[in-house]
Amino acid sequence: MQTLIVGIGALGGTIAARAVRAGLPVRLAARNTDSAVALRRSGLRVTGTGGEVRTDAVDVALIEDYKKGSQFDLILLATKAHDALEVAPHLLDLLAPCGVILPIQNGGIARVLADSLGEDKILGGFSNLGATMVEAGVYEQKNAGHLLIGELAGGVSERVERVARALGPAIEVKVSSNLTGAIWSKLLINCSVTTLGALCSQTMRQYMETEAGKKVFRRTYEEALSVALSIGTRLERLAVDPIPPGWAGNVTVEKCYESWVETIIAFYGDVKPSMLQDFERSRKTEVDFINGYVVTLGHTSGVPVHMNAAITNLVHQIERGVLQPTRERMNELADQTCERTCGNRN
Ligand SMILES: NC(=O)c1ccc[n+]([C@@H]2O[C@H](COP(=O)([O-])OP(=O)(O)OC[C@H]3O[C@@H](n4cnc5c(N)ncnc54)[C@H](OP(=O)(O)O)[C@@H]3O)[C@@H](O)[C@H]2O)c1
Repeated sequence: MQTLIVGIGALGGTIAARAVRAGLPVRLAARNTDSAVALRRSGLRVTGTGGEVRTDAVDVALIEDYKKGSQFDLILLATKAHDALEVAPHLLDLLAPCGVILPIQNGGIARVLADSLGEDKILGGFSNLGATMVEAGVYEQKNAGHLLIGELAGGVSERVERVARALGPAIEVKVSSNLTGAIWSKLLINCSVTTLGALCSQTMRQYMETEAGKKVFRRTYEEALSVALSIGTRLERLAVDPIPPGWAGNVTVEKCYESWVETIIAFYGDVKPSMLQDFERSRKTEVDFINGYVVTLGHTSGVPVHMNAAITNLVHQIERGVLQPTRERMNELADQTCERTCGNRN
């Protein structure tokens, strides 16, 4: 399967190094000539989980360069979300007949791309594999995670299985027959665990020690869950059951809810939020495709999404340098929970 990996950052670089080393027919696309030249010179090196690999010879160019006659059966789109939206339409010319683009960003990207470019061209996918980029060409794999891929319309197709088999020698790939449900289950965690941790510059375990953190987590998660269910999503169980105990009128035994939260903390509670790293590096975040995506769909489907809207707004203010990520952000959000609750009672 002739493969092009677009975006040779933390995740794309890690997958690319392992794919080249495994002897797969893979070529790489960098953002600009300087990056391509630097990668050609440095080669790729991955350390960490999965063992060290080095590759000296990498075939890397710009997307435009590949337009002079190359065609790919698979294009793995490993840029950040906003870049994925911008670059994806330019990749259509590079697809072989029956070729597919596999975006691996969290949140709504695959759905948005499928709506604009056609579901026949877009698979869904996301990564449980964690990686960081030490410098261009040098990556560290952080865990033994996998890519989860599938058809956005559901079911398991021959083309999805072909993609999983093709990438298998490089990284673990699992196929889901309910990928949209899995994307949403992860999105619920991204909205609450990742974004909230970034806003208050803490891990989930730390912010859940405060009353404010508990309140805001619950409201954020439940808003996103209401949106998912309102658009007919059949949520897929990932690390935990995506539906908390007591949801939708069942009698909540508070202890059951707390133990459900503890399970989430056990899985995700000590991870430094990736969005916090974006803040620290003054990089644009992906919030518009995480909490912002929930807000857009909430507005369309008439589901209240005040907390996710407030969170999205705070993230934008931090991106602009107007605010800083501190614990105060959580208290501000908790005050809004109280205002809303009091408002609802009146
Ligand atoms: N890293 C992880 O552990 C992880 C885990 C789960 C999910 N994800 C998701 O995976 C996606 C990628 O994450 P990441 O951490 O690998 O990001 P990253 O390190 O920022 O890598 C993205 C790469 O894409 C490049 N790029 C941007 N526009 C491009 C274009 N038009 N053509 C070619 N290359 C382009 C960037 O180049 P510049 O450096 O020039 O901008 C950068 O090298 C994100 O959506 C992230 O949320 C990541």
